[in-house]
Parts: sequence; structure tokens; C-alpha cells
Amino acid sequence: MKNLIIVANWKANKTKDEAWDWFENFSKDSHDFSDKEIIICPPYTLLGKADYFISESNLKVKIGAQDVSAFEEGAYTGEISATQIKEFADFVIIGHSERREYLKEDEDIISKKVEMALKAGLTPIFCVSDGNSKIPKNVKIVAYEPVSAIGTGNSDTPQDAQSVARKIKSENIQVEKMLYGGSVTSQNVHEFVEMEDIDGVLVGGASLSPHEFLEIVKNA
Ligand code: PGA
Repeated sequence: MKNLIIVANWKANKTKDEAWDWFENFSKDSHDFSDKEIIICPPYTLLGKADYFISESNLKVKIGAQDVSAFEEGAYTGEISATQIKEFADFVIIGHSERREYLKEDEDIISKKVEMALKAGLTPIFCVSDGNSKIPKNVKIVAYEPVSAIGTGNSDTPQDAQSVARKIKSENIQVEKMLYGGSVTSQNVHEFVEMEDIDGVLVGGASLSPHEFLEIVKNA
């Protein structure tokens, strides 16, 4: 059986109180999800809150950041370094298409971010929007997220996602886990994870509700 990875990407959403409510509601359910790796990626401002809740309640989820600085540490106003993130998180999303588009992140910056993350002991969740993207070496988790599927309600087909996942794994031997992302819901999650080469999902909009996200975890 596959050990599925289910990632929640909250993007620029939630205040401290909203995050606390989310965790309270999510942890109320006694569902045993120890066979799945659940990674919650809140914005930087909520990493401390998430870390506190998880350690106090012994909740079996891990924390990821949504980005990391390409710089190490020092005089880089506004940046958050990989070492700083590592105090709260084990994972980091790198190369999301929203950052490539809105923040103009290019391959150089993205590969620098991967280097920083790995050096600090963070596991990158590397996002690509097609099967031809270059995957940096030492990246073990890749999320295939076609731009047309992100936040649109028009997910890719499981068959298409499977063939991209297969291609990426076969051309990049370092890649151990392929995730699919783009309009994943509790209704369609199973169709994706039952595909041979898909090892989990990256969930944006549908992860904002603790109830819907729990359904995704259960149905996966
Ligand atoms: P979505 O976003 O689930 O809202 O489509 C996925 C993502 O961008 O990671």
C-alpha cells in the first residue's frame, strides 16, 4: 500500500484565530490517519501558532512553509531563511506557479531556494506545471500542478496526471513521490491517488475548511 502524502496549502489565508479554529476542528475528529503523511502549509505568520498547537495536542501532522528565501541569512529585508523555517517546519513548497507568475521567480532563484532548503534540512515539495520541467537533483517530492487546474474547479484528468507523474519519475530517478495538485476535493481525490504513480495530493482552496480537508484525508 502507498503511504500517501496529503498537503494543505493555505496560501495567503487565515488569521491567528482562524488558524486556531481550523486546528481545533480538524483535531476533534478521532479519525486515525497514521497511515498518511499530512503536511499543513500555513503562511509564515502562522507557523509558530501551528507548531504550538501540534505539539500541545500531539496531532499527527507535519508543518511545511509555502516558500523560502534564496538567501542564506543576513541583510535581506523581508526574507525568511531556510534555517529560520526549520525551527517550525520540516517541508517547504518551492516553485509554485503563483510565485513563478506573480513574483517572477525563475529557474535560478528556484534552484537556489532548493539548495538553501536542503542545506537547512528541509524537504522541498517542488512544483511543476508540466512533465518537461527540469527537476533539481536531490528533490524527492514533486507536485504536478497544471496552471489551468489551480483554483478553477477544472482539475486535470487522473489519466493525464498519471502519465505526467510516470514521465517525471522515469526521467528523474531522484524523484520518489509524485503529488497531483489543482482543484482537488473530497469528491475527486480518490481518482487521483488510485493512479499507480500518484503518491498524494497538494490541496489549495479545499484545504481551508477543516471539514473538507478531513474528508479529503479520509477519502484519499
Ligand atoms: P487549488 O490550489 O487546490 O485551490 O486548485 C492548488 C495549489 O495551488 O496548490
